[in-house]
Amino acid sequence: MEKAICPQKCPYVLMGEKKKYAWCACGKSGKQPFCDGSHKGTDFSPIIVNNEREGNIAWCGCKATANSPYCDGSHSYL
Ligand code: FES
Ligand code: FES
Repeated sequence: MEKAICPQKCPYVLMGEKKKYAWCACGKSGKQPFCDGSHKGTDFSPIIVNNEREGNIAWCGCKATANSPYCDGSHSYL
C-alpha cells in the first residue's frame, strides 16, 4: 500500500455545512483537505462523508489519522 503524502502537520479547521464532502486520503489534492481527483492512478480513493452538523470541522491534514477524515491528534507524533 502506498503511503499518503502529508500536506500539513495540523488539521484544516473549516466551517462545515450540511452537505456531502469528499476528503482527500492521498494527500495529493491541490484543494486540501478535499479531493480534486489527483488520486487517479494511486491506491487511494476519497472518504465520502455526509455531514449533518453545522460548525467547525477539524479535517485531518497530515493523513495519518486513525479516525479519517477527522483529526485525532496523530499529527503530534509526526
Ligand atoms: Fe492528521 Fe491531526 S492533522 S491527525
Ligand atoms: Fe486525494 Fe482524491 S485527490 S483522494
